[in-house]
Parts: sequence; structure tokens; C-alpha cells
Amino acid sequence: MPSPRSDDVLIEARGVAKTYQTKDGPVESLRPLDFAIRRGEFVSVVGPSGCGKSTLLKMVAGLLPISGGTLTLAGQPIKGPQKDVGIVFQSAVLLAWRSVLDNILLQAEMRHMPMGPARTRAAELIAMAGLQGFEGKYPWQLSGGMQQRASICRALLHDPSVLLMDEPFGALDAMTREKMNLELRRIWATGERKTVMLITHSIPEAVFLSDRVIVISERPGSIAAVYDIALPEERGLDIMASPEFAAYAKTVRGHFFAQGSLDH
Ligand SMILES: Nc1ncnc2c1ncn2[C@@H]1O[C@H](COP(=O)(O)OP(=O)(O)OP(=O)(O)O)[C@@H](O)[C@H]1O
Ligand SMILES: [Mg+2]
Repeated sequence: MPSPRSDDVLIEARGVAKTYQTKDGPVESLRPLDFAIRRGEFVSVVGPSGCGKSTLLKMVAGLLPISGGTLTLAGQPIKGPQKDVGIVFQSAVLLAWRSVLDNILLQAEMRHMPMGPARTRAAELIAMAGLQGFEGKYPWQLSGGMQQRASICRALLHDPSVLLMDEPFGALDAMTREKMNLELRRIWATGERKTVMLITHSIPEAVFLSDRVIVISERPGSIAAVYDIALPEERGLDIMASPEFAAYAKTVRGHFFAQGSLDH
């Protein structure tokens, strides 16, 4: 795949580094990183626990300042939370005192969206995520996977063009996870393509969903490799049984063995 043309680039990192200042001294989380994500591209980030994936996502979301380099969205430096971005965090982060529906509608309230269309959209998303019948329940009445599905609905409510997801399916059972993978791929492939940055510990998930997979090395994280996934645009779960898919998964997995980290 050719390197991104500069006019296609939506998210660009040049020498982006992160060092946390803690009471015990500085903790280097990410070494200077360079990467570019094209508009409409689906990029997954994989790497061992603690290598700085969530840190990177939070910086792209504008929730955490960078320590060095430049990080831009549509050519503008990322400073503070971005409007056209939806975020799914590693844990569901739902408000305990609001129902599922009201947690999803929080997105509309915060953005002062008209509530009529927001409710219609919320109902569609609830159906998509298989949460019908649970709209009025509270987060503590749901399983962890259901809570995470509700938080995905909330991230999609305002139809953002950039979707940042941190291990969104980690708490789901294998079957629901595959269903959500298919749904996410479908959402991405239809209509105006969202630019997606997905963090995952699942190599098959990364290969199945992505145009490119970025592999980060152990802390302090740096980009160890970037793989173009040249699988057909239209992907059903059966593609996972193909030799091409297996070859990609093996290449990425081999990388972790090379690093000596076997927890993936
Ligand atoms: N607020 C913080 N203060 C100090 N150090 C932090 C902070 N947040 C993260 N770190 C450090 O930065 C490193 C990267 O953390 P991060 O959460 O980005 O990792 P991760 O790749 O998302 O891991 P995981 O796969 O387990 O979620 C960790 O080693 C952690 O110790
Ligand atoms: Mg993390």
C-alpha cells in the first residue's frame, strides 16, 4: 500500500512522546512515534500490556497532553477534547444513577443535540447492540459486556467521523464479540466512512477489522511494525478461515514472540 498522501491524512503524529510525571519521578510511557492515519481508514493498535496504547489513544482524543512532538487532527494541533470524535474507553464508564437510555442520551445532552432525532438514533443503536428491553435498566443491572455495548452506543450517538476505541470488546463473550466485530465493520463500511483507531489485545480482531495494524513494542512503547491488511473490502467471519487471514495473524503474532511477550 502506498504511504498516505498528505491531503488524505486526518490524524498525524510526528515525534509524539509521553512521559508521565509522578511523585516517584518521570515514567517514560511512549518514545517518539511517527504515524499518519488517513481519512476513512481503519487502524488497529496492538501491543503488550502497559506499552502505552491507552496513553496514545487519550492523547489523540485530546484528553491527555503530549510531552513532545506534534499531533494533529485535520492539520490542527490537538488541544483539549475534540468535537467530531467518539470515544469508547477500556471500561464502560457509565453513570450508575442513569438508565441505559439516559446514559446513551448523555452524549446528546452534552452536545446540545435536538432530543427527538437523538432518541430515534439511540433506539437504532440499542437495537444494533442487542440491548432492546434493557433501555430502562441501570448499569449495575447489566453484565460487563452489556455495559460496554451501551458505551459503544453512546460513542456513536452523534455520528462522529472519528471513532477512538480502547479495547471495546475485551469484556464480551466470544460470540457477542464476533457479532460486534461484524457490526463495527458494517458500520464502518457503509455510508460515510469513519476514521477508526482501535486498540485491541486480539490479533484476529485487529486483522479482521483493519486496513492497517500498528504494533507497539513493550514500554516505553515505540512502533515496532506497521502491517497493511490487504484482505477484501467485504469481510464476513468466514474470512478468518482463509490462508491469507492466517498469514497476517501469524505475522503479527510472531512479532510478540520475537519480543518475548507471550501474553497475547
Ligand atoms: N496517570 C499515569 N501516571 C503515571 N504513569 C502512568 C499513568 N497512566 C499510565 N501510566 C504508565 O504508562 C504506561 C502505559 O500505560 P497505558 O495505560 O497507556 O498502557 P496500555 O498499553 O494501555 O496497557 P493495557 O494493555 O494494560 O491497557 C504504563 O506502564 C503505566 O505505568
Ligand atoms: Mg490500556
